[in-house]
Amino acid sequence: MTRKMIIDTDTASDDAVALVMALQTPDIEIEAITIVAGNMPVEQASLNARYTIELCGKDVPVYDGLDRPLTRAPYRAYFFHGPDGMGGMNYPAPKLQPRQQHAVPALIETIKANPGILLVTLGPLTNVALAVAQAPEIAGMVSRCVVMGGAANTVGNITPAAEFNIWCDPEAARMVFHSGLPIEMVGWELCRGEANLSEADMRYCREVINTPLSHFAIDCNATAIQANQQWLGDPALALPDPVTMAVAIDPTICTRSSRHYVEVECDGIFTRGMTVVDQQGVAANIQDPSVAVWEQIVRRGSPNATVCWEIDIPRWKALLYQTLQ
Ligand code: RIB
Ligand code: CA
Repeated sequence: MTRKMIIDTDTASDDAVALVMALQTPDIEIEAITIVAGNMPVEQASLNARYTIELCGKDVPVYDGLDRPLTRAPYRAYFFHGPDGMGGMNYPAPKLQPRQQHAVPALIETIKANPGILLVTLGPLTNVALAVAQAPEIAGMVSRCVVMGGAANTVGNITPAAEFNIWCDPEAARMVFHSGLPIEMVGWELCRGEANLSEADMRYCREVINTPLSHFAIDCNATAIQANQQWLGDPALALPDPVTMAVAIDPTICTRSSRHYVEVECDGIFTRGMTVVDQQGVAANIQDPSVAVWEQIVRRGSPNATVCWEIDIPRWKALLYQTLQ
């Protein structure tokens, strides 16, 4: 049975691999790809997404969206993904052009036209926040909202407290986490350690799979491989967006998850963008009036997200390899 999907992305190198995974999964029908600024300015992210779509021989509507966060200054991850977001590969400009319509109305109309659609977010939540603010009813029309974002009560990757997508636009993230969308949170911590592509995994992609897509997946991540080691001290290549796409395509790849109240820190200097997961379920017990602000925000601690705590690493990698054939 065909499953309909809409993807919101700030297309840089790991997003591109996630797009390949969705484009190359036979029973996934991508209704739209909406572009949000994050890793890259919208123009570059749009070029990267459209190049990737053409590389897969597909034709999917692309809609460009917000070029900056709701209130914060833009921050581009050139240091991590390279000047073009694709490892400096300077791929040729795609023939595929973006549609005229803006990403926000496109998100709203695509969701309304396809009730039960699967929404996957791979970048800051600026577009999605505005879409659900303009049309709150779409929150109930999405079957799953699989979010690459956050760090579930663990260290961040852009600051000690926060993961990049949430940190970029914390106000948008808070709006989305309180929108009623059926959020499945896939934190960056799930792409670390053994979930990284090791040197041997990357050799497997190049020498055994040895297809244009398997070489592309490694080539476009050339800068990310270096940055992952120099910036984060992790081995080889971390692929947070592809891990998230794997969970979106096959939910059983997330082997341990639970429902929690998740809040996004928007006021902290050192904790901006932190995803505060009420893992112990204590928020509902707070009675002390001095924490009134907590009560203003939290619906008395009612869970608003399913947090993924663990993935099946061999099956994540097997799904990736299957789509690179
Ligand atoms: O923190 C990782 C996330 O930030 C990924 O989506 C990556 O593409 C960047 O957007
Ligand atoms: Ca991304």
